[in-house]
Amino acid sequence: MAVAVAPAPLSETAPVGLKEVQAPVADDLEAFRQHFREAMQSRVRLLDTVVSYLLKRKGKQIRPTLVLLSAQLTGGITDRSYRAAALIELLHTATLVHDDVIDESDTRRGVASINALWKNKVGVLLGDYLLSRGLLLALDDGDYDLLHITSDAVRRMSEGELLQLETARRLDMTEERYFRIIGDKTGSLIASCMAAGAASAGADDETVARAKAIGETIGLAFQIRDDLFDYDAVGAASVGKPVGLDLQDRKMTLPLILALDRASDADRKRIRRIVKKRKKSRAQTDEVVRFVSESGGLAAARARMEELAADAASEIRSFPASPARDALVGLCAFVVARKR
Ligand code: IPE
Ligand code: IPE
Ligand code: MG
Ligand code: MG
Ligand code: MG
Repeated sequence: MAVAVAPAPLSETAPVGLKEVQAPVADDLEAFRQHFREAMQSRVRLLDTVVSYLLKRKGKQIRPTLVLLSAQLTGGITDRSYRAAALIELLHTATLVHDDVIDESDTRRGVASINALWKNKVGVLLGDYLLSRGLLLALDDGDYDLLHITSDAVRRMSEGELLQLETARRLDMTEERYFRIIGDKTGSLIASCMAAGAASAGADDETVARAKAIGETIGLAFQIRDDLFDYDAVGAASVGKPVGLDLQDRKMTLPLILALDRASDADRKRIRRIVKKRKKSRAQTDEVVRFVSESGGLAAARARMEELAADAASEIRSFPASPARDALVGLCAFVVARKR
């Protein structure tokens, strides 16, 4: 009889450092950064000031890394790959600026958010500006396929954000709805990275679709890690943005959903009553955080995330061996192990 052996967690079999993951495309990332910086320039003084501020904190650049690694995996990096990477990082930056307005968040990447420093008006307009510069970057070179892939992601992101808003109001979250929301708001753009990378390398439609599906799965794991920060990074400075906002905003994310699934009727009633409140005291949010941990919600959410990352890694391993392939598997490990 065969004995089933549980596979080792991804983090034990693949590199988890971002530097190692980015090594095969380190020079290409420099070329991307050049495109990215140039695409943001403006002669309007206020814009120039705000853009300079944005450029000082560059973020992890996970999405451009994915674009370039996907291109390398499926045929080779081209000039179009740099433009795809810049276009997607512009869209990502636009959505972060808008997201901080929507979430009323005052910190991003360890510094004050745009809306905190310049108010919401500037955040809304800057987001629109970045979005338009991204679209123009693709149009200038006639990259219609890339524009199609990314515009579809932007549509899904907006739908996901609105579904999230509607669900928070009605507090009728289910696990199924949660996965739809995070697939739309985060999976879509990460899927578009993998798809645009492959398309920029001249891969066939089937390969583009395969790459896209891998990106979608990575995106789900990525957002679960982010949602976990709200519960397991309380008090940690390393995240660079506020934690606990989701709960304050009545957003039910996977750790809480899975904790409620495991709770007694009485606990479920008590916790839901707190989550519903518009204003929660420190003691009340502490109580929910403790409940999520003690009822096994945290562990269960981590297990789902690990499973998704492992699924993505195994799909990636179906491509021929190469440094890009190893780096992409490493990126799956990084996504679940990251501290910011
Ligand atoms: C944050 O994305 C937004 C989410 C989808 C959770 P990142 O964590 O990739 O942001 P930066 O670009 O590295 O700051
Ligand atoms: C991010 O979700 C999804 C986006 C489309 C920007 P969050 O609102 O959880 O992202 P953070 O935690 O502020 O980065
Ligand atoms: Mg937010
Ligand atoms: Mg948000
Ligand atoms: Mg978050």
